[in-house]
Amino acid sequence: RPLTVAVLGATGAVGNELLQLLEERSFPIDQLKLLASERSAGKIKLWNGRNITIHPASPEQFQGVDLVFASAGGSISKKWRNSINAAGAVLIDNSSAFRMDPEVPLVVPEVNPEKALTHQGVIANPNCTTILLTVVLRPLSLLAPIKRVVVSTYQSASGAGAEAMKELKNLTQDVLDGKTSKSKVLPYSLAFNLFLHNSPLAENDYCEEEMKMINETRKIMESPELSLTATCVRVPVLRAHSEAVNIEFVEPIEVRLARKALNDAPGIKIIEDFHANRFPMPVDVAGQDSVAVGRIRQDVSHANCLELWLCGDQIRKGAALNAIQIAELLLPNS
Ligand code: A2P
Repeated sequence: RPLTVAVLGATGAVGNELLQLLEERSFPIDQLKLLASERSAGKIKLWNGRNITIHPASPEQFQGVDLVFASAGGSISKKWRNSINAAGAVLIDNSSAFRMDPEVPLVVPEVNPEKALTHQGVIANPNCTTILLTVVLRPLSLLAPIKRVVVSTYQSASGAGAEAMKELKNLTQDVLDGKTSKSKVLPYSLAFNLFLHNSPLAENDYCEEEMKMINETRKIMESPELSLTATCVRVPVLRAHSEAVNIEFVEPIEVRLARKALNDAPGIKIIEDFHANRFPMPVDVAGQDSVAVGRIRQDVSHANCLELWLCGDQIRKGAALNAIQIAELLLPNS
């Protein structure tokens, strides 16, 4: 039966992409509700040939809803979770609010699809960099157990929302125009610049984004012992993240076998032309579903390690697409 679906945060970067993907993938929707803050109340959005009015979130808005996609931030998800579940709806939550809750499955459909069906009303969509990483680690972990992962990220403005993307464009234009203007959304200007991820620092001097990668990867891969260290950096790219990844296995793995495993795995596209020195770039994956991987090579410093490079669309696979793929796992005939 077609569903009644609500998108909470329907005006944001991820919300907009969700709407586009729901249409593109012909998700079985009877009624679609668009929810955002008071600021957007009464605005109208065109979706799949229908004009839909945006409403502020309220308990009444969740009555009769089967499925809620939330991408309005952790505090909003926490605020509405009970109302959503009390109305009998399942929450697929893009925020970090419930990700580490042991009762809440944290799902990447290419990695642990079976977990989605164990939900008790909430399924968490992982952090964007973690989704891209685990899609790639999973097929490699089937070749031999992974001992340690060292990752450096190159993260786009979209991770900080639609306003941050707009700010990157505007501040870049300002630099070209010879103006020096201050950033408002991000702490520093990303125009012709980069900086370490601005999420709050933990006691161990890792930022929250880095700790999310560490903890969420362990949960998704079901390897609590996995060693992982990350350095997260924001770069002046609009909507795709890149990651340099070093993977240590318990034994040496032939590059050829790793490449084949990645090539055969769902959700991955290999972009790798060593003669042309051509490997994945953010522009290759912007607006695309697959995670692009390339430059898979033997680490010269360690026999048991491989190096690789990956890029993935942060708004799609890093957020909206993964959330919809989770919802598709819940559909009766999936
Ligand atoms: P609004 O446009 O009305 O502020 P992004 O991640 O791109 O910054 O998007 C954030 C999303 O969360 C937007 O759709 C935004 O709506 C929504 N949002 C922000 N605050 C609230 C709130 N208090 N209640 C519901 N939605 C909210």
